[in-house]
Amino acid sequence: MSEFIEKNRRTHDCGALRASHDGEEVVLYGWVGRRRDLGGFVFVDLRDREGVTQVVFDSDQAPEAFKLAGDIRPEWVVGVKGRVRSRGENVNLDMSTGEIEVLAADLAVLNPSSTPPFGIVDGVNAHEELRLEYRYLDLRRPEMVKRLRMRHRITQRVRNYFAREGFLELETPMMIKNTPGGARNFLVPSRPSAGNFYALAESPQIFKQLFMIAGYDRYFQIVRCFRDEDLRGDRQPEFTQIDAEMSFVTPQDIYTAVEGMMVEVFDEALGLEVKPPFPVMSYREAMARFGTDKPDVRYGLELCDLTGVVKEHDGGGIDLMKKATEKGDVVKCLVLGKDTSLSRSDVDKLEARVKEMGGMGLMRAKVTDGGGWSQTPLAKKIQPAMREAIHRAAGAGPGSLVLFQIGPQNRVNTILGGLRVHLAEKLSLIPADRWECLWVVDFPLFEVSEETGEIQACHHPFTSPHPDDLELLSSDPLKCRARAYDLVLNGVEVGGGSIRIHDSTVQARVFRALGITDDEAEQKFGFLLKALQYGAPPHGGVALGLDRLVMLLTGGTSIRDVIPFPKTTRGQDLMSGAPSPVDDRQLSELHLKRDSG
Ligand code: AMO
Repeated sequence: MSEFIEKNRRTHDCGALRASHDGEEVVLYGWVGRRRDLGGFVFVDLRDREGVTQVVFDSDQAPEAFKLAGDIRPEWVVGVKGRVRSRGENVNLDMSTGEIEVLAADLAVLNPSSTPPFGIVDGVNAHEELRLEYRYLDLRRPEMVKRLRMRHRITQRVRNYFAREGFLELETPMMIKNTPGGARNFLVPSRPSAGNFYALAESPQIFKQLFMIAGYDRYFQIVRCFRDEDLRGDRQPEFTQIDAEMSFVTPQDIYTAVEGMMVEVFDEALGLEVKPPFPVMSYREAMARFGTDKPDVRYGLELCDLTGVVKEHDGGGIDLMKKATEKGDVVKCLVLGKDTSLSRSDVDKLEARVKEMGGMGLMRAKVTDGGGWSQTPLAKKIQPAMREAIHRAAGAGPGSLVLFQIGPQNRVNTILGGLRVHLAEKLSLIPADRWECLWVVDFPLFEVSEETGEIQACHHPFTSPHPDDLELLSSDPLKCRARAYDLVLNGVEVGGGSIRIHDSTVQARVFRALGITDDEAEQKFGFLLKALQYGAPPHGGVALGLDRLVMLLTGGTSIRDVIPFPKTTRGQDLMSGAPSPVDDRQLSELHLKRDSG
């Protein structure tokens, strides 16, 4: 069939033809979509990446092509030569090429296709696992083409923006020294160096800092990162960052650079003008008001802290609250207004959810018309003065439903923060087409790991402590603030970064605060500590999750929808079957032994 291709060069793609092409002779290539036989005519929708064109085979005008058109099936690859003709009255306004059709003179089958396991159409009703197994067919669907085209456009715009702003696009190695920090690393065994491993870079972090030390001033890269972490809708084991680093900067300079990029990205994706500067909120405020460090500020339903009220009223008749505040726990609540209709069984379901999130239960009270409480055993116990004080503090009135959480601050915030998002979705409180970018700043430098109970860096160990908090590094590290910031878009963390440590002694102190001995630091990070001694400029940077950004801007809920070949939540590529076993010979070349257990 290469003869057909040699003789008939493609003149247009399948989305190009309009009424203005009426009468032109054209050659199209593509995949067979819908096909209809109507007596002496066969109508075929010919599809490629750019669109769909209706091709007509007429038994009188081109009997051979007509006969062959009777045999072709969906997803066969064909070439068509013919003449454009106007559809006149029969325009199809749903198709960009709907003003015309191509009257075929010649048809060539370039490759038949097995019957696809699902239709190549938008909104296909196929299980995601099947779509991932046949990803090349899934990617043919117009909505997937649209998403990936958007990804391409955003990537190009970002690249041009940084280049124009004087950032050099430079690569960093992916196979690097294993320097345990944040995420768990994938390891790559070395064949020539028995028993030694590379790690796959979880980010270019150290290398972009080394670029600054080398004097490159402004760097960026659109780069693949690898992390062996628990996966979910917005996390993949390999994902793409828009990574940047700058010298001689304040956090404000980084915000400005990223905001400029976001202006271009919104313009490209949605034709929308976003106006910097983006609001800035402290981590403390975000946790207090929204129970999370990535608040969705498109709607209210904020958390209200009642700990002070409870203390003031010495428990107000409610023993559980009194005891909690005495031992340093907090009492917080969410209030739903009188126009939200949640049945008792809805609220019971909320309670089950709270328990899943690690809470003991969900204490609640419905405010009656007279300002009392109903639907709660607390109704009889609560002293009226505290009840009124709670209503005042939380903005509750007749018909309101007050949902309480009592316990350690972090747990209460996590539970109410999660409940807030769940309720907003369930009660449709989230305004469509609203975009809220927000900088969250002043993160703590360290946190206690839930897994190990040990102190760990909130961002990564190269983040600069707040200059006012340097003394706390040794006296009270958990109180030390970081010069770190996250960019949050509609409640999703789309980026994060920090001003870095450029002083090797401060870096060594941070390692010590993290429980890394000087010897260990030397062994793991010696190359960085050494480099910091050779004229490291003050520097800082940021990385944005490209997949998350594209997901949000295309209205998706999973980054799998905007990654051409993603993995499942179990880290599997269902199409190729990775990860897969390897044979003993390969293992022994790598000096590895199979675990007999
Ligand atoms: P961080 O770890 O916060 O920072 O990552 C930056 C951004 O990358 C995205 N992201 C992910 N996207 C998909 N799947 C994942 N598994 C995943 N993990 C992270 C998020 C996140 O905000 N080197 C630092 C940045 C810096 O300090 O400059 C870093 O990697 O959108």
